[in-house]
Amino acid sequence: MSTQTSSIILPSVVKDGKPLGDCVEVPKFQSNHTNAADAFVFFGATGDLAYKKIFPALQKMTQKGYLNVPIIGVAKAGWTLDQLRERARDSVSHHGGGVIEPAFDELIKNLRYIDGDYSDPNTFKQLGQQLGGAKAPAHYLAIPPSMFETVVRGLAQSGCAENARVIIEKPFGRDLASAIELNHTLHTAFPESHIFRIDHYLGKDAVENLLFFRFANAFLEPIWNRNYILSVQINMAEAFGVQGRGKFYEEAGAIRDVVQNHLLQVVAFIAMEPPTRMYVDSLRDEQVKVFREIPPIDPKNLVRGQFRGYRSEPGVAPDSQVETFAALKLHVDSWRWADVPFLIRAGKNLPVTATEVLVKLRRPPLAKLKLEKNNYFRFRLGPDLSLSLGARIKCPGGNMSSLSATQGVELTAVNEKTSDEDEAYERLLTDAMHGDQLLFVRQDAVEAAWAIVEPILGDVTPIHMYEPGTWGPAQADLLANHLGGWNNPEPAHTT
Ligand code: BG6
Repeated sequence: MSTQTSSIILPSVVKDGKPLGDCVEVPKFQSNHTNAADAFVFFGATGDLAYKKIFPALQKMTQKGYLNVPIIGVAKAGWTLDQLRERARDSVSHHGGGVIEPAFDELIKNLRYIDGDYSDPNTFKQLGQQLGGAKAPAHYLAIPPSMFETVVRGLAQSGCAENARVIIEKPFGRDLASAIELNHTLHTAFPESHIFRIDHYLGKDAVENLLFFRFANAFLEPIWNRNYILSVQINMAEAFGVQGRGKFYEEAGAIRDVVQNHLLQVVAFIAMEPPTRMYVDSLRDEQVKVFREIPPIDPKNLVRGQFRGYRSEPGVAPDSQVETFAALKLHVDSWRWADVPFLIRAGKNLPVTATEVLVKLRRPPLAKLKLEKNNYFRFRLGPDLSLSLGARIKCPGGNMSSLSATQGVELTAVNEKTSDEDEAYERLLTDAMHGDQLLFVRQDAVEAAWAIVEPILGDVTPIHMYEPGTWGPAQADLLANHLGGWNNPEPAHTT
């Protein structure tokens, strides 16, 4: 019996930047808010998010002709416009693949800067002046959530919120109650159709492809249910620690940082029913339905870990109980998924950086194959992208009467591109500017997702230490042992 797995690599999906197969245009989902924004305002212009993500995205958007509007940075740093321009240059040089001309020059020409306190009405008066004749500005709150209320109030009182849209980043609250409160604050100035909540996983090609693969292929639907699927596993491994974000992480932990949002979105894409019609809320309705079908997670199905050394990170309490690793099991209580376990594992300082979904199929009813590996689908979401089907074939030359002489193969479609978080920002900000809400999280989804994790927030279970560079605490194995164990993703091939 051979257990060796070989790969049959199908032609790459993309070669030299061009799709190899036919790329068939499907009708675009229609947005329910069609007017394009005519100014882009970002609060927190001198901060980390602007430096690492926003300027690179703005340069690419300008290059593609999507951003020929005033771009107004707001912050309280005592800076001048020239300093912000320098910061933008530095940002695209270090995080945006370099300065792209003439796009960068155009971006710089459109850039304005307001230095002011967010609680000072004069800051918003200046903003109103800079907005000039803009009729539909987009305000991006790239600031800590604790400042949202002040800024939203300032925008409303100054009239800058009129017919405007607001873009905010996760975390959307830190539990159900605070998410409702945050929403209330936003709704004092913006209707839901003008609120764009960014979860950058929804802007990732590989994540969106989960939906396309499911609904664009007729062979999948008949087996995509509890009759054929044994289990679903989502692993998000990161080979690095908290990277200087100790203070932020102390407030978050792995469950708030990536499970409540990114990984539950992935669950929704795996589990949702096909959207009935092609319009923005059909997809978001199905997302919410999945969240509502997931019962709140029982703490006995959770294992929390912390890597050794986390407590010495700057900004981290010496006796911190915050998890840098979480492994958990949940169920989607629907006709399609009843009794199929969904396992999620996410952690910092694990052996590799890779995010993978493994959908294991049930075994064929042949006694001799009992010990063999199941068929499976593997969706590699990052940092390299691929989609594989795990199958079993006869060992070459093996004895026909011995069904146990089988060999595992993977049929793999590889996308040469690596996953790119920056691209996700570019895509999401472009959609927000165009008023297309499809890839943004609706408030009911935010609340339903918090309801799922609510029982496992905080120190409800003990924290188990693990060594950096390992797959987390051994206790986590108990959750997956009866399902063939955890899938440990391989290191990326392309980085
Ligand atoms: C962010 C989290 O939202 O997502 C980080 O705050 C995490 O802790 C990051 O590292 C992962 O994103 P990606 O795109 O690299 O998988």
